[in-house]
This record gives sequence, structure tokens and C-alpha cells, in this order.
Amino acid sequence: MVTFKHTGTYKKMCHFIASNIRDCVKTHDTPVLGLATGSTPIGVYNELRKMKNTNFSDTYTVNLDEYVGLEPEFNARLKGKEGYGIPQHKQSYYHFMNEQLFKHITFKRSFFPGESQSDTFDSLIAAMGGIDIQILGIGTNGHIAFNEPGTSRDSLTHVVDLTESTIKDNSRFFDSIDDVPKQATTMGIESIMRAKKIYLMAHGKHKKDIFDKAFKGEITPDVPASFLQEHSNCTVMYCD
Ligand code: PGA
Repeated sequence: MVTFKHTGTYKKMCHFIASNIRDCVKTHDTPVLGLATGSTPIGVYNELRKMKNTNFSDTYTVNLDEYVGLEPEFNARLKGKEGYGIPQHKQSYYHFMNEQLFKHITFKRSFFPGESQSDTFDSLIAAMGGIDIQILGIGTNGHIAFNEPGTSRDSLTHVVDLTESTIKDNSRFFDSIDDVPKQATTMGIESIMRAKKIYLMAHGKHKKDIFDKAFKGEITPDVPASFLQEHSNCTVMYCD
């Protein structure tokens, strides 16, 4: 079962989630935040940046996914330092998170799938005690992270071929559709379902149909987000 939360506006939705993150960070010794990229969570990161009185230096972050194939532009500046080897391409998700949060807030450490063998990412999360709060967006095809329709409920972190619809959706960030990577490393459905608390955000009228299908329709691999209906503590939020 999922809980539907109506906040009315995108701003209030972001504020609600950011406040819950702050409370989590204040009440846990070493909190673990599961972060998402895309346009939807930008408002949450904006709210977090304003929280000057919150200390995030004991907080770990893990990201849901990262493109495969943007590695040639590794940041040489980091050679020999932590973070070297993480894609620094402007469209890499690391770069996105760096701009949105890491440049502004000091976290204990941040991890991305694909930095090491994908099958160790879930062990890494488990070793940190699991994800306390996971933020999610939803794709127009019902994907969560890069778990495209057809992904197994049991999937752990893995490399995926992106679907045509996701490549098309993401092409707005690239000069041409041919530049969009065709693969990504993503946390699996099972990896996401292990999070203790999940907030899924859907923003915009173009997400309304898939939001209803995912959370008011049947649970099916055709709509990967629908698996969240089986999570014990998942709040889903839509605003147009
Ligand atoms: P968006 O992407 O936030 O850019 O709409 C969401 C997603 O694909 O998960």
C-alpha cells in the first residue's frame, strides 16, 4: 500500500520532503539518503541548500543511477583523491548532483552505482545500514531509476540498455539524441524496495496518467513504479 500525500503545489511538495530529510538527518547518527536526478527533485535540493543550520557532515548519500559511457571526461584534478574515476561529463549524474548539492553541502561521502562493480553497490548500502530516505521520480513509461518496463521485482544494481522513450525524454539535456548514452548502471527494484522510507514525486500533467496507473492500477513489471505498492512505508505525491 502507498500513502497519497497532496500538498497542492510543487514548492510545498519539495518543502515537505526536504523537512522530512532534515528531521531524519537530525535524528540519525549516520543517515543514508538515496538521491535522484532529473528535473523533479531539483526543488528538494533547493530547499536543502537553504538549511544552513543542519549539519550533513555525518550523512552518506547514494545515487540511484549513472550513465555508462561518459567516462572519458574523468576529472583529472581529482587524480589520487577521493572521487577520481567518477564521470565528470556535464551530463553525468555526478555532475548534476555536484551542481545541485555537493558543491553547497558537505556530506560524509557520496556514492554512485558504476563507480565499482555494480554487484557490490547493494552490499555497500547494506554495510552503511541501508537507505533511510529514498527520493524517487517516475518516468513517463513508469520507470523508477533506470528500471524500465519489464524489469524484475528482484533486480539489484545492474547495467541496463535504455529504452527509446527514455533516450528521447533525456535527449533534451544533450545537443543531439545521438549523444544520449544508451546504457546506465542503476539500482534495481529490490535495491530500492529495501529503503526504509520512500518519497516518490510526480510533477506535471504529463505524469498524471502514469502516476494513476502505477499507484491506482495493478502491480505489474510493465509499470515498474507499481511495485512500490508493496512497500511498507512509501508516500507518493503528484502535483501539476
Ligand atoms: P524527470 O525524470 O524528473 O526529469 O521528469 C524522472 C525520471 O525519469 O525518473
